[in-house]
Amino acid sequence: MAIFPPKERIWWNTPVEKTEVMWVTIALIWALVMFFMMPYWHLTGDQNLSNEAYKISADAYAEKTEKMAALYKVREEGDTGIPVVAPPAGSDVYMLGRLWEWWPVLELEAGKTYRLHLSSLDWQHGFSLLPENINIQVHPDYEMVVTVTPKNPGEYGIVCNEFCGAGHHTMVGKIYVK
Ligand code: CUA
Repeated sequence: MAIFPPKERIWWNTPVEKTEVMWVTIALIWALVMFFMMPYWHLTGDQNLSNEAYKISADAYAEKTEKMAALYKVREEGDTGIPVVAPPAGSDVYMLGRLWEWWPVLELEAGKTYRLHLSSLDWQHGFSLLPENINIQVHPDYEMVVTVTPKNPGEYGIVCNEFCGAGHHTMVGKIYVK
């Protein structure tokens, strides 16, 4: 027990058990394998997104998103009249998370590349794009930028996957790909 001094005063000369050396070696090798798999999967396996993050205030982000929505709104939909926004191919597109919605709805063209910006106006939300397996934590005061090239036309759902209060389960959004 560690609260008593070791019986053997020169305990550090005691040879380490063979099995312990073996397990430590296995653990070390496995840790190294996993470590080098991270960049490997990033480059070859579509494992992680190459995202960027920038500091931005909630007000400044809201302003950029609203400006884009006003410029490229094509229609409104649903009971809430949420705008559907179709920004030009290749442009910067903005979506914001707040209690409790993803705003606005985006309409993108298949095969075109966009810089998708994401931020929160209040607190942490999770951007989970379905049926694709894309998950991004979205924080206030930080703008995440993901370069995306949607391949398949269709309707993509966004759900919030970070618990954000009473309306968390209603926090959904949408992206159309034409
Ligand atoms: Cu936003 Cu949960």
